[in-house]
Amino acid sequence: MADLKGQYDGIKSDIREAIDRVLEKGIFILGEEVQAFEKEFAEYCGVKFAVGVASGTDALQLALRSCGIKPGDEVITVANTAFPTVAAISYSGAKPVFVDVDETYDINVNGIEAKITDRTKCILPVHLYGYPADMKPIMEIADRHGLVVVEDACQAHGAEYDSMKVGSIGNAGCFSFYPTKNLGAYGDGGMITANDEGIAGKLQLLRDYGQTQRYRHIIKGYNSRLDEIQASILRVKLKRLDEWNEQRRKNASVYNKLLGGLEDIATPALRNDNSKHVYHQYVIRVGNGRRESLRAWLRDNGVATDIHYPIPLHLQEAYADLGLGKGALPITERNASEILSIPVHQGLHEADIRMIADSIASFLAD
Ligand SMILES: Cc1ncc(COP(=O)(O)O)c(C=O)c1O
Repeated sequence: MADLKGQYDGIKSDIREAIDRVLEKGIFILGEEVQAFEKEFAEYCGVKFAVGVASGTDALQLALRSCGIKPGDEVITVANTAFPTVAAISYSGAKPVFVDVDETYDINVNGIEAKITDRTKCILPVHLYGYPADMKPIMEIADRHGLVVVEDACQAHGAEYDSMKVGSIGNAGCFSFYPTKNLGAYGDGGMITANDEGIAGKLQLLRDYGQTQRYRHIIKGYNSRLDEIQASILRVKLKRLDEWNEQRRKNASVYNKLLGGLEDIATPALRNDNSKHVYHQYVIRVGNGRRESLRAWLRDNGVATDIHYPIPLHLQEAYADLGLGKGALPITERNASEILSIPVHQGLHEADIRMIADSIASFLAD
């Protein structure tokens, strides 16, 4: 599903040089590399500020806190996402409130307003699989109801909505640099993007023990810092991100052509707008109860697959306290039983994609 070794081979000398630079300087936490990467990432996303933290999970949690989310508040999001999206809401003390998704796998914007109560403080859309949520109506709803918007862009580095990069549209944007992400570190890392100086300033405090200067703590902050070595690696990789995303888009368009007409297969549904998908995952739906047998067939033919995600958050044991049973989110639940992620990463080229598509077609013809 990813080719980190192949990617490394292509950028080896730049990576070694970057790591050496840090080792030679002997500064490992909140030094020049983090500062430079924050500046470069902010420019890339088209925002004023970027604050490096220890993971995407921390990015979400600290973004929520810096936007003033507190215990008793409600945050509207989706249930088909990575567990940390929702866990971060819980860490902030707020309650996650789920809205179903639409055919694009992202939040169904028509379902949001019905879930707003006087405790709702935030909408947290997830740009799932690299496809931007429909941000215009989301921002309009947030404006109408005085809510903040925190974007979960952990899977969507470089994706665009209406010519704006994700992470630059809401009050804060949250990114993960988990190694397999489109922009991945060689360890954990995360980033929050924002245009508001107050939010950025609060984040800088929250990530570093709440200190304004050494041993002067004005709030009860955390230790959540992106380290110098990861920042130096990410600076090398950021320069290649657009090229890698373009390769993912090319791979996806070959799949769309080859799988588009096949019975029992639904290729990704996109809105009719100028959003730019970055295909962190290429996710098909397999109908007629055939997903598991297709998965086994592909595995036997040497093709890795995954399911993102097999159990929606409202049906996870950890969220049993929400009291939502089966049937609460019909499209999310249908998707969980039909979705299949197939390889789309930048190390694959047209011949690989054709081989995988042929393999799927020959299974279906059987
Ligand atoms: C949508 C989404 N949100 C949040 C996260 C959390 O990021 P991290 O693993 O860096 O904590 C991830 C990554 O796994 C993710 O895919």
